[in-house]
Amino acid sequence: MENNLKYYIADSLKELFNCDPDNEIIQLQETRKEFEGDFTLIVFPLTRYSKNTPEATGTAIGERLVSRYPEVRGFNVIKGFLNIVLSDSFWSKTFAEIHETAEYGIRTAEADAPVILVEYSSPNTNKPLHLGHIRNNLLGFSLYRILSATGNRVIKTNIVNDRGIHICKSMVAWLRHGNGETPATANMKGDHLVGKYYVQFDIDFKAEVEGLVARGESTESASEKAPAIMEARELLRKWEAGDVPTVDLWRMMNSWVYEGFDVTYKKLGVDFDRVYYESETYLRGKDIVADALAKGILYRKDDGSVWADLTDSGLDHKLLLRSDGTAVYMTQDLGTAVIRHEDYGFDKTIYVVGNEQNYHFQVLSALLKKIGYSWAEGIHHFSYGMVELPEGRMKSREGTVVDADDLIDEMIETARTMSKELGKLDNLAEEEREEVFRKVGMGALKYFIIKVDPRKNMTFNPVESIDFNGNTGPFIQYTYARINSVLKKAEGQGFPVSTKAALSSLPIAKEIDLIRILRRFPSTVSEAALQNNPSVIANYVYDLAREYNQFYHEFSILNEPVPDKRDFRVLLSGKVAEVIWSSMWLLGIEVPERM
Ligand code: ARG
Repeated sequence: MENNLKYYIADSLKELFNCDPDNEIIQLQETRKEFEGDFTLIVFPLTRYSKNTPEATGTAIGERLVSRYPEVRGFNVIKGFLNIVLSDSFWSKTFAEIHETAEYGIRTAEADAPVILVEYSSPNTNKPLHLGHIRNNLLGFSLYRILSATGNRVIKTNIVNDRGIHICKSMVAWLRHGNGETPATANMKGDHLVGKYYVQFDIDFKAEVEGLVARGESTESASEKAPAIMEARELLRKWEAGDVPTVDLWRMMNSWVYEGFDVTYKKLGVDFDRVYYESETYLRGKDIVADALAKGILYRKDDGSVWADLTDSGLDHKLLLRSDGTAVYMTQDLGTAVIRHEDYGFDKTIYVVGNEQNYHFQVLSALLKKIGYSWAEGIHHFSYGMVELPEGRMKSREGTVVDADDLIDEMIETARTMSKELGKLDNLAEEEREEVFRKVGMGALKYFIIKVDPRKNMTFNPVESIDFNGNTGPFIQYTYARINSVLKKAEGQGFPVSTKAALSSLPIAKEIDLIRILRRFPSTVSEAALQNNPSVIANYVYDLAREYNQFYHEFSILNEPVPDKRDFRVLLSGKVAEVIWSSMWLLGIEVPERM
């Protein structure tokens, strides 16, 4: 319908000013709240055709629109802006168009569409996932859906940092204290078990350092000499040398961790098309560094370490190989990026990684460019802020961070308790009820995190997140379930009787408000994709759900006496439900059909 309006405007320009305007010059936006109108035409650029003031030009166009087109009901000109007031028939036609569009707002990728890799999760393998990973996974997965829905070919990828000193620390502690313990004998998720030993390592290490300091050693040298850290370094050397028992132990403990991660990913509803492992990419990184060194792009210091001078990009000097020849975190990222580009020839890779690594990713881009990879232009860091729990809330059993599994379980438990108190689901079968608790608990967690601008630090408030009356996932889920039950009843009564008649009935003001929001859905999805910002959709779907609830409270749907109006409301409700569902899908949030 907006295109029709543009056509009307172009036609008026031709007629009034005897010109042939190109399409770009007709700039329409939604009218700002403080003015009367639906769409606003920016008149300034059109004065070149009218050779007149913006006011006179706007007035002439407005008058012609009103006299010629029944969809235009009125207008006003304020400065260089023509505010166009549309009639109910415009909105009725707009809704008819929306109604007829299947998968409204969602586009699929053409065969030659851009290829975008979205990297998210990317954990280390020495401990379980925590609240920060939850935010990471939710943002990454939602970004994947949003970019897919805007016509890109998107690959979900993960880099597991599975080698290095951190995992060797867990290995040392297990060798010292484990007595052969496994997830099965400990009756513990594998990632938690390995995390337990990581914590144990730290306890050993601190005690050893204290002991050494008591015997007159400086803290600094004690931290170097403590047996625990010496053993961990030794394991790392053995690992790099391919020592079989060390590699076997490493493989076994990592496999425990992966089993544990898989359970958490499943609960979060995220997955990956391709998982990369640092142990399989870091050697490539070392090769790249060696090549670039030979070409004189990098330099070697007297101690043998290899560096990049990035001062011409406004960055620092960056270490790429230590003096003992071992790789660093950056080395691995060079290898991973190059392998990924060989695998997918991506146009863009989006790294979903916390903002404490901003500098790392500036260096990665600059470095890849310096080494000569033109595709480095496509490297993009999606940098998100920290997430915490409110003051005084539970910490994980490891005592430092908020454990992802614990929090997920707690959310589902809260949903269960609340629903039972409200006595809402008593008529559902046990199994379905459990599914609803899971969806509501996870919906609360996910929505609360995603609705915040990703760049901002945030506090996740579990109690607020599950409030059925706030800007929450459960509120939106509940609205969807409510519409669904209206639709079921309508179907039972044979409504709509005539879709055609319903679509030609004229909407009232409150219905127009809903149509207005529905109309905005496709551009909202595009905007979210353009800005890489899922919160844009979260805020959109809240507006839609709130508007629908008001409508629902003020007007009857199935009891509306005029059949066409009643049927129109059924159709409108159906499309609102569909758009809520699609929005939540883009956020990676499931919505129960009943609750
Ligand atoms: N494993 C890293 C960490 O926990 C994050 C990896 C991010 N991705 C990357 N390509 N560097 O800090």
